Amino acid sequence: MQVVHTVAELRATLQAARKPAFVPTMGNLHEGHLALVHRARELGDVAVASIFVNRLQFLPHEDFDSYPRTFEGDCAKLRTAGCDIVFAPGERELYPEPQTYKVQPPAPIGDILEGEFRPGFFTGVCTVVMKLFACVQPRVAVFGKKDYQQLMVIRGMVRQFALPIEIVAGETQRAGDGLALSSRNGYLSAGEREEAVQLSLALKALAERVRSGVDRAVAEADATTSLARRGWQPDYLTVRRRADLQAPAEGDTLVALGAARLGTTRLIDNLEF
Ligand code: PAF
Repeated sequence: MQVVHTVAELRATLQAARKPAFVPTMGNLHEGHLALVHRARELGDVAVASIFVNRLQFLPHEDFDSYPRTFEGDCAKLRTAGCDIVFAPGERELYPEPQTYKVQPPAPIGDILEGEFRPGFFTGVCTVVMKLFACVQPRVAVFGKKDYQQLMVIRGMVRQFALPIEIVAGETQRAGDGLALSSRNGYLSAGEREEAVQLSLALKALAERVRSGVDRAVAEADATTSLARRGWQPDYLTVRRRADLQAPAEGDTLVALGAARLGTTRLIDNLEF
């Protein structure tokens, strides 16, 4: 496995690649990321992972400074997972000048749900992903379904800019109790870790109630109240249609999405049903 820190090194290393398959990450890797790398290995002739904590997608009060930087451990995991190239640019390499050109997703997908509670988040994500795509020039890129809305936003960006990149979705990996694996799970105290699975259970209950005919708004409000009673601070628990995350109509295929804070840790999860 080669570790490169500059765009020039990356391009030289990738010169002979026919079908680079790419997994962008912010490091602090867990089995969920490694499953994406395994998928990338199946899809391309060279598997590339990036590690870059992207300042642009954090709000001023969020955890950019404290976000765990675990570079050595991440490289060891990537090596074991069969990654061929790790691209780990410093901030000056990726943003040598202030990044004033940005990629802003349209409001109907970019400003709802995560975009409502984290304004500017998807502009930060799209901007860095566009830039990473320009550096790596992958033919295929793998994104986890755990970040469901992010996956949709990236698909839209790739489609509208006619980028020659196939976007592949990787299934969410879960701990034994059902908690979706996330880099932020490491922030949870032991007690919070036990409680954390309740977000996915709440989404499951919400999906079941909507499926059995309970009014969507009532089921969403009940799910939100139940989680809040357990001490969570929910941002949203909602059922949307999968196609564009708007309010569903009869016959649409559905997804339940949720985001809630447990103590100081904000968790997200989703369930297609
Ligand atoms: O999902 C993430 O880890 C990040 O949003 C990504 C796609 C690596 C962009 O910084």
